[in-house]
Amino acid sequence: MLLKPYQLGTLLLLVAAGSGPAATGGEDGFEGQQFAYNGFKGANLTLDGAVVTSKGLLVLTDGTSQIKGQAFHPSPLPFLAVTNGTGAVRSFSTTFVFAIFGPYTDLSSHGMAFFISASREVLSTALPGRYLGLLNSSNDGSRTARVFAVELDTILNPEFNDISGNHVGIDVDSLVSLDSTDAGYYDDGTGRFLNLSLISRTAMQVWVDYDSGATKITVTMAPLGVARPKKPLLQITVDLSGVVQSTAYVGFSSATGIMNARHFVLGWSFAMDGLAPALDISMLPALPQVWPNQRFMSVSVKMGLALASVTLVSVGIGIYIFVRWRRLKYSEVHEDWEIPFGPNRFSYKDLFHATGGFSDKNLLGRGGFGSVYKGVLRKPDMKVAVKRLSHNSRQGKREFIAEVVSIGRLRHRNIARLLGYCRRKGTRSSEVWPRACCICMRNGSRSLSTEI
Ligand SMILES: *[C@@H]1O[C@H](CO)[C@@H](O)[C@H](O)[C@H]1NC(C)=O
Ligand SMILES: *[C@@H]1O[C@H](CO)[C@@H](O)[C@H](O)[C@H]1NC(C)=O
Ligand SMILES: *[C@@H]1O[C@H](CO)[C@@H](O)[C@H](O)[C@H]1NC(C)=O
Ligand SMILES: *[C@@H]1O[C@H](CO)[C@@H](O)[C@H](O)[C@H]1NC(C)=O
Repeated sequence: MLLKPYQLGTLLLLVAAGSGPAATGGEDGFEGQQFAYNGFKGANLTLDGAVVTSKGLLVLTDGTSQIKGQAFHPSPLPFLAVTNGTGAVRSFSTTFVFAIFGPYTDLSSHGMAFFISASREVLSTALPGRYLGLLNSSNDGSRTARVFAVELDTILNPEFNDISGNHVGIDVDSLVSLDSTDAGYYDDGTGRFLNLSLISRTAMQVWVDYDSGATKITVTMAPLGVARPKKPLLQITVDLSGVVQSTAYVGFSSATGIMNARHFVLGWSFAMDGLAPALDISMLPALPQVWPNQRFMSVSVKMGLALASVTLVSVGIGIYIFVRWRRLKYSEVHEDWEIPFGPNRFSYKDLFHATGGFSDKNLLGRGGFGSVYKGVLRKPDMKVAVKRLSHNSRQGKREFIAEVVSIGRLRHRNIARLLGYCRRKGTRSSEVWPRACCICMRNGSRSLSTEI
């Protein structure tokens, strides 16, 4: 079937109406006492620090630390029922879909809030960090601040009596909540409470309703796609007449602290004296797939890595010290006069091992010159006696040299033949004469202490 031009026009018009902000009437979209944004493309919002992406995603804070972001309806809404003459705050209803991306899966920066705020000045002087872009250090707790908020708090601030690092609270003029509870919802089927993680990077829906007659605030939340749970998350009686004395701004604020985070709002509807229009989930903008320029690593993984690198460095230092110690332990001295005796020179290390580290177990005898130990050489495989000269022995360098020179020529008292020698570098500066040792062939099991 071919479409006639006017039919095409009607179709296009329908599509346009569907994808744009479905606000009803007026420049700021509040003549019909309600508005609904399924995505914020073209929405008339006042933004402070926040941006709306080309896809219509409202980005309150963008992943920078120590910032606040605010987005609110451009004109203040008439919250007071002036026609009634009672001066009571009108009933209202709102619902929104949000998502918080923490830099880590298990730790985040500060959260966000839906607010009703009477004064532009309070909004503009609000601070980031734990003040959530709602209040500042001097007006927090003051009745004159005139702020109502539903906070989605992702950090436990003890100074605000926070109950956890993942809670929903109802605030009036203060970040100390009138009431708060862990984020989650009651399952309609089982009645069981199911936890929700605010920083889980998934979209969740919140409903906030105020019943003017009962002066009752009801807060409910659920994962996006789950119908509004029958049992609310929070319900308290609160008189908002102190907050809203005529008109007030409605919108969202968010804040980051030392750590960054990204706070998103995907859709929002609001109604005075009635139920907020339902949001069309299929029309909501998509959430970003990845955290830009940031590895999405959990804190435990990070800490594990840090621990691993510390361990690695420690092991490295340990190995270095061990190698240095070994080198020092077995380090040797060489002098020119020894060159002809090279073949007779043994390494201190080999003799050290041959005698079991000059252990007392292998001690054959002790004298003024030093001590004699029995031992077994590995290469060549033979039993030997090793005389270790103490650096302060009466046998001076001259005697030691004489003994080395005699290697191969003399049979030591015709009993033990001198095989060779070793010299080790002194480890202490007091050792004027380096440690040295002579090595002799061992003659059976006879004690050599007297023979050498
Ligand atoms: C947005 O709303 C404000 C306040 O009502 C109004 O002054 C302004 O013209 C509106 N802007 C647009 C683009 O509609
Ligand atoms: C006026 O206020 C009273 C009590 O607060 C309420 O019962 C009544 O419905 C209100 N009337 C209108 C027109 O809002
Ligand atoms: C806090 O906000 C109030 C307005 O409510 C402003 O007058 C005051 O200067 C602000 N204080 C700080 C420390 O920013
Ligand atoms: C929900 O979270 C709270 C606090 O984080 C925890 O104590 C509780 O065990 C959790 N419940 C479930 C069902 O996971």
